[in-house]
Amino acid sequence: MSNIETMIKMAQQAMDRAYAPYSKYYVGACVEAEDGDLFAGCNVENASYSVTVCAEVNAISSLIAAGKKRIKSLLVISSGEKISAPCGKCRQFIREFAGSDVPVYLCLKDEVSETITVEQMLPKSFGPEHLIND
Ligand code: THU
Repeated sequence: MSNIETMIKMAQQAMDRAYAPYSKYYVGACVEAEDGDLFAGCNVENASYSVTVCAEVNAISSLIAAGKKRIKSLLVISSGEKISAPCGKCRQFIREFAGSDVPVYLCLKDEVSETITVEQMLPKSFGPEHLIND
């Protein structure tokens, strides 16, 4: 199985476990660390809607909790009829841990439909280098 096929499977499994009783929009993400390790996440909604956590944030948080520091690639899949595009908050969350040329695989149904870079997704972005001067 190719790396992308594995990422699709892991993201799908996470999506199937999403807790989305309010929107019924199920999202799965799989993030690849620089050493090739993979971490999946799903969206977790809350009765207090704004407390909801997106799939991408959960996947990346697992990568960080495992002691990894940087993202090599990321894949997003959803139950929707349109391409799975990360929301603006997720784009900023991804950007914190990914270089500008990191690929983001956007799925439509169960296939990668489009690949964009972090820079294309969030041009002229604000990041750690704006704050850290060492
Ligand atoms: N959602 C994600 O998980 N990732 C995104 O990038 C966009 C939105 C979730 C949040 C909420 O549970 C549902 O999709 C509808 O907004």
